[in-house]
Amino acid sequence: MISNDIRVVVAIDFGTTYSGFAFANRLSPDEIETNTRWSGREGLPKTNTALLYDAECDNVLKWGEPALFQEQRRRKNQDAAQKLHIVERFKLHLDHSMEQKPELPPMFDYKKAIIDYLIKMKSVIEETLQRRWPGLSLKQVLFILSVPAEWGPYTRAILRDCAFKAGFIDENTHSNLEFTTEPEAAAIHCLSVCNEHNLKINDTFLVVDCGGGTVDLTVRTLLADNKLREETVRSGGLCGSTFVDEEFLKFLGRKVGVKALGTFKEQAYGDLQKLIHRFFCQHVKLPFTGDEDEFEPIELDLETHCSTLIPHITGEAKDKLEDEDWVIDLEYDDVKKMFEPAIKKIIRLIDAQLNKLPRDKVKAMFLVGGFSESPYLSSRIKDNFKNRVRKIAFPRQPIAAIVKGAVSYGLNMQIIFSRIIPWTFGIEVKSIFDENKDPIRLRTIDNRIWKIDILVHQGESLKLNEERSREYKPLQNNQEAIVFKIFYSKLENPKYPSQNNVEYLGKLRILLPDVHLGRNRPVEFSLKFAKEEIKASARNKITDEVYQTTFKYPFESDF
Ligand SMILES: Nc1ncnc2c1ncn2[C@@H]1O[C@H](COP(=O)(O)OP(=O)(O)OP(=O)(O)O)[C@@H](O)[C@H]1O
Ligand SMILES: [Mg+2]
Repeated sequence: MISNDIRVVVAIDFGTTYSGFAFANRLSPDEIETNTRWSGREGLPKTNTALLYDAECDNVLKWGEPALFQEQRRRKNQDAAQKLHIVERFKLHLDHSMEQKPELPPMFDYKKAIIDYLIKMKSVIEETLQRRWPGLSLKQVLFILSVPAEWGPYTRAILRDCAFKAGFIDENTHSNLEFTTEPEAAAIHCLSVCNEHNLKINDTFLVVDCGGGTVDLTVRTLLADNKLREETVRSGGLCGSTFVDEEFLKFLGRKVGVKALGTFKEQAYGDLQKLIHRFFCQHVKLPFTGDEDEFEPIELDLETHCSTLIPHITGEAKDKLEDEDWVIDLEYDDVKKMFEPAIKKIIRLIDAQLNKLPRDKVKAMFLVGGFSESPYLSSRIKDNFKNRVRKIAFPRQPIAAIVKGAVSYGLNMQIIFSRIIPWTFGIEVKSIFDENKDPIRLRTIDNRIWKIDILVHQGESLKLNEERSREYKPLQNNQEAIVFKIFYSKLENPKYPSQNNVEYLGKLRILLPDVHLGRNRPVEFSLKFAKEEIKASARNKITDEVYQTTFKYPFESDF
């Protein structure tokens, strides 16, 4: 149950390439602080979403930026260092629709990386909170995790489980973790700049969060009291900045040979990372403006930037590069082409959102996320859309936008949306009949009894969209479906669906065709208490298949 004990809201932006957190005390909600102290680096709002594992991939040796750039100072350590594993971009494994997922070590479960990363993040969060508010317990913290808009509910279930295993929440503080979508958080952050851009009540704006992995879009209308209404179905795509890095690798593969690049990647992943981050991102991607006149060809000297790639290069590529002193030239067109696929997709996404609304309805477009800092991306977007959207703006601190917006979301949830629920809700379950406690007239022929398994008690405080869930299994080995019947009551502790003052709300059926698994087919049933309706869902925990339905509240005006 969400308690009034919550003192601090902490939001975590678990990004594809960079992650960070921000926090605020409920008593001073205007002071949202973004953490900038990371081991190995100070002053940046995020650290790399990267882990360095030992040879067995069991233990985390380093995390964040030091995981990517651990220097091998002594030669004798080099052999050992070769066997270590850098794991990154693992967030994208949550997206089941992605065809070519980023590589991970063989037999390595991406969820382990998420848990390990969250454990490391938790220790910095705890340290930071202890410094600010000594004695504060994690039980007094509401955590907000932001997720891409397009990702299905199962991603939240997985992240919730990972956060649980990382120790952010326990059985009693389940509701101290909430989710918001990345564009929702970005939109809330953009609220703070709406005034600066003269946006008035009923004005509509588009927010585009251009991250490392995904680009997420949402269209919102400003309402009274700084509230936002969602205008269209949000959208998103896999066209973040790291897809430009991938194009660079394809370019490099064409120069050195795909095979050479492949073996180099396998054997010296850390060096490849350095090449991407320290050479490509720093010297090529980040500064690229798209202005041909000011562009100077860039030399990639393999001996300086990535000498360990050279021994892998063979045949014609070797002869050619040897003649050129191992220098590869990056011309204007080469770099432009690397941006092209991602930029085209982003433009298409923006276009599709604008097409959903009448012309001139969208008064402003705000771009946030690290990729929005690209001068080339911003000029392409301005060129494409300046005739359709009057203001195209880039709010301050674009990288911290999501995490700060997510803190505001958490603070507002606390202020506005905690409500006392006037009914008990539960589902019908068949239990063993207890002759000392249960009325004999309710005994079924198989010596059982229909009871109510309560998910929420009348009088509890519920936040908007709070979810209550529990695991169930089929009663029979050969059962092909479970029907969840939902009941409600004004009583705090109703026991039987057939007793007075207990009403039937509706049912949800889930098919379970895999009868060969017998009773071992766990289903997670949950009720989510949204603003206008109750959403029931049942997820087959083995296949991740989800069945959903919604119900109106029994008497809307009461709640
Ligand atoms: N000037 C720039 N030009 C191009 N890309 C940039 C620039 N500055 C930062 N980036 C890229 O932005 C990305 C980081 O942005 P951000 O922190 O918003 O992403 P993320 O949260 O890790 O990803 P996601 O939101 O997709 O999960 C990196 O890939 C980085 O290389
Ligand atoms: Mg992001």
